[in-house]
Amino acid sequence: MKQTTRFSLTYSLENKKLKQSREVRKETVTKTIQAMEPNKETLYATESGKNIQQLVSELDQLVGLNKVKELVKEIHAYVEICRRREQFRLKTESLVLHMIFKGNPGTGKTTVARILGKMLAELKVLPKGHLIEVERADIVGEYIGHTAQKCREQIKKAMGGILFIDEAYSLARGGEKDFGKEAIDTLVKAMEDHKNNLIVILAGYEREMEKFLRTNPGLRSRFPIHLQFPDYSCEELLEIAHKMVAERQYQLSIGAKEFLSEYLREQLKTSKTNFSNARLVRNLIEKAIRRQALRLVNRHLYSREELMLLTREDFSPLDQEDSELKLWQHN
Ligand SMILES: Nc1ncnc2c1ncn2[C@@H]1O[C@H](COP(=O)(O)OP(=O)(O)OP(=O)(O)O)[C@@H](O)[C@H]1O
Ligand SMILES: [Mg+2]
Repeated sequence: MKQTTRFSLTYSLENKKLKQSREVRKETVTKTIQAMEPNKETLYATESGKNIQQLVSELDQLVGLNKVKELVKEIHAYVEICRRREQFRLKTESLVLHMIFKGNPGTGKTTVARILGKMLAELKVLPKGHLIEVERADIVGEYIGHTAQKCREQIKKAMGGILFIDEAYSLARGGEKDFGKEAIDTLVKAMEDHKNNLIVILAGYEREMEKFLRTNPGLRSRFPIHLQFPDYSCEELLEIAHKMVAERQYQLSIGAKEFLSEYLREQLKTSKTNFSNARLVRNLIEKAIRRQALRLVNRHLYSREELMLLTREDFSPLDQEDSELKLWQHN
C-alpha cells in the first residue's frame, strides 16, 4: 500500500472516531439539558403544589376543627396517591367524593367546602372547583316539572365544582308527595351521570341529617365521606373574634374583650340549639364596627389608634334586635 493511501485511511478512520465521540457528547449534553429544564408538566405540578400548600395553610389557620382538618388532609393525600398509582398502572378505587357535613350554623362548613373545592381543582379531580351553595327553595319547585327544571339549572351552574346543599334534610320534609323527593332523585342521577365533573355536599344539623339518611336508605352509600363540625368552645370563639378583628385592621379594647368573653360564655350556657357559633361572632364584630363609625363620624380630631379601636360601648348594650335573637335562642 502506498504511503499516501495508508495515511488517508488512518486519517479518515480517526476523523470518523472523532465525529462519533463528538456526537455522543452532544447527545449527552442535550439529555442533561433536557433533564435540567423542567418540562411543562413538572412546572405545572410545582405551581399546583404551591397552591395546594397555600390552601392547606388556609385550612390550618382556621381555629379548632382538628378532626375536619385531618380528614381534609387525608382526602388530599388519598387523591394524590391514587394519581401516582395510576401513573404506575396500579389498581385504584374509583374516587367517590360526595360528602355529608354535619354541624350547627356557623361552624365553618361553607368555609371548609370552599377550601376543599379549590384543593380538588388543584389536584385535577374537579375541572373548576367553585362552590354553588343552594337550599331547598333553589331546587324544589311548586308544580310538576318545576323541580326538575330548577335542579337542572343549579346542577349546570355547579358543573366542574361543588354543589353544596344547605339544610339538605329539608328535602325530605314533606314526605312522599312532596317535590323534595323528586329533587333528591334528580340529584342522585346527576351524581351518577357527571361523577367526574361534580361533587355534591349535603350539609345540615347532625340529628336531622341522620334522620334524613335513614329515610332514604340508598343515600348513605352514595356519600362515603362524613365530616363532623362541632360547636366551638368559648376560647375558640374568642380566638375567632381576635382573628376577624385583626383581619379587618381593628383592635379590641380591654373592655371590649371582657364584654365579648362574658357575652359568649353566657350564650354558650343558655342556648342549646340554633347557636350560630362563628357567625354570631362575625355579626357582633360587624355591628361593633358600624357603631364605632357612628361614634367617631362627627369628631374632627381622631388618631390612627382611635380609628382602629373597638370599645366596650361599641358592643354593648345590646339593642332590641340582639335581645330578640337571645330570646329566640333561649326557646
Ligand atoms: N374555625 C374558624 N376559624 C375562623 N373563622 C371561622 C371558623 N369557622 C367559621 N368561621 C367564620 O365564621 C363565619 C361563618 O362560617 P361558615 O359560613 O363557614 O359557617 P357554616 O357552618 O357554613 O354556617 P351555616 O350553617 O349557617 O351556613 C365565616 O365568616 C367564617 O369565615
Ligand atoms: Mg354555610
